[in-house]
Amino acid sequence: MSNAVIAVDGPGASGKTTVGRLLAHKLRYKFLDTGAMYRAITWAALEAGVSPKDSRRLVSLAQEQRMEVAFQQDGQGLVLVDGRDVAAHLREESVEQSVSLVSQVPGVRDILVELQRRVAEEGRMVMAGRDIGTVVLPHAPIKVFLTASVAERARRRHAELQASGHGVPYQDVLEYLAKRDKLDSERKVAPLRPALDAHVLATDGLSAEMVVERILEMVRLQSWA
Ligand code: DC
Repeated sequence: MSNAVIAVDGPGASGKTTVGRLLAHKLRYKFLDTGAMYRAITWAALEAGVSPKDSRRLVSLAQEQRMEVAFQQDGQGLVLVDGRDVAAHLREESVEQSVSLVSQVPGVRDILVELQRRVAEEGRMVMAGRDIGTVVLPHAPIKVFLTASVAERARRRHAELQASGHGVPYQDVLEYLAKRDKLDSERKVAPLRPALDAHVLATDGLSAEMVVERILEMVRLQSWA
């Protein structure tokens, strides 16, 4: 039983991380962004000169390296690769370009899913990703699937990029997200889709605080929180 773990899934830039982090903070839960794990393995592969198309070598790399999740005092989960904090590399362009390919490899997913399940045993946690409610924790007591139109998600991501000094044109962000949506939802293993028992929340026009408030209402109806 995946007790007291809230699964927050959804497409890129749907607000999973912002909402998940805020929700975890309000509940004094831990927060794990599983996208960071797929990004970390992608970064490790690129560092080791392994092609993101070479499934066999990707799986060997995933088996050989030691990936861990360390929770900080504020509850945020940090992904460590061979003991090293790789957070600063996870949004690099090369990682962005290759992560969808790496996350399609079944053997890589098996290894990360197993680690995610082990971490989830700690309980009292919000776990964000694409397949948490469908594959990783099918018995999670609360599953939320966030959606937003691709235009809205591109607007949010574009604003984030601008705020961090990256002047990428809006149109490029839009096209990139549309491409990622297609790859993530058409892949054979664990494609992006809501679990049958997920609460699907359309977030266009809603602030992260408003989305969190809706999820907290669901949590209040549960006795374990
Ligand atoms: O949420 P994100 O943009 O950081 O995710 C990066 C990639 O990892 C994205 O292409 C989908 C993949 N991913 C996945 O397949 N399963 C997860 N649970 C989380 C992310």
